[in-house]
Amino acid sequence: MRRAILAALAALLLSGGAAAAENYPSHPITVIVPFSAGGPSDAMMRILAERMKLRLGETILIENVTGAGGSLGVGRTVRSAPDGYTIGFGHLGTNVANGAIYKLGYDLVADLEPVVLLPSNPMIIVSKNAVPAKSLKELLEWLKSRPVPAAAGTAGAGSGSHIAGLYFENVTGIKLQYVPYRGTGPALNDLVAGQIDIIVDQLSNSINQVRAGTIRGYAVTDSRRAEQAADIPTVDEAGLPGFHMTLWSGLWVPKGTPKEIVAKLNAAAVEALSDPAVRKQLENLGLQMTPLDQLSPEALGNWQKAEIAKWWPMIKAANVKVE
Ligand code: MLT
Repeated sequence: MRRAILAALAALLLSGGAAAAENYPSHPITVIVPFSAGGPSDAMMRILAERMKLRLGETILIENVTGAGGSLGVGRTVRSAPDGYTIGFGHLGTNVANGAIYKLGYDLVADLEPVVLLPSNPMIIVSKNAVPAKSLKELLEWLKSRPVPAAAGTAGAGSGSHIAGLYFENVTGIKLQYVPYRGTGPALNDLVAGQIDIIVDQLSNSINQVRAGTIRGYAVTDSRRAEQAADIPTVDEAGLPGFHMTLWSGLWVPKGTPKEIVAKLNAAAVEALSDPAVRKQLENLGLQMTPLDQLSPEALGNWQKAEIAKWWPMIKAANVKVE
């Protein structure tokens, strides 16, 4: 008798998820982007949302919830209803590094369900045009010669650009003075204006300004040149061998979101990532598409855990102080 009741209860719970998914979505969906509009996270999500809404049949609204290296935005997703109507955009910084820097009040793995691994890109070392360096070697000499540390723009402690800066300090022994913004969109504006000296930025964010000559690009943090920036050497060619970093992004929903809803969101994202027009837009920004065998929710979950194991020791050793 007890077994029958438990079986009926389990069926009811499962049917609850399936029932919820059957009518999902029935109203607009919000994606929380944890950095300011105009930056690389925001740009990628807007391109994807425009195509995902066709599959889902509902508008996808972007809400930029910024601050504390993106951890406030991720917290908003964690605390939202597990009904598929709030999705969190995140990346190496927000969904890996922040766990090693902040007392988050939530667990980046236990409190979120992975949906899909999104395209990635290497970082690029860029400077304001006024820096008297024509190569990475000359930039490193200039940085070392400065009486005070150069001002390096970031999207806040724990952001991708900040982790890249820490890694840069580690491999060069050069101290940087971090200048936090609510995203690398506004940081890039200040670099173009000459208000800060450098950014170790996502390629997708800086690529157009490098092409326009409004900032200087020195090297990409990869073992091969980016097709869309073929004139920019790799760090291996430019004199900083092995300084490799790929910034990947992903989508998550709150823990407890029915798996049928996760599957619908995953299918919409995979369809968008398979669309030739979307791929062209993203590849033009220097983004590399996710390998087909890495598009399941489980693949993002496994990838995130591996990246935590890879990055936390270096980040914790940096002993980052956050106010
Ligand atoms: C980062 O540095 O974490 C991101 O590039 C910030 C952003 O997407 O604005």
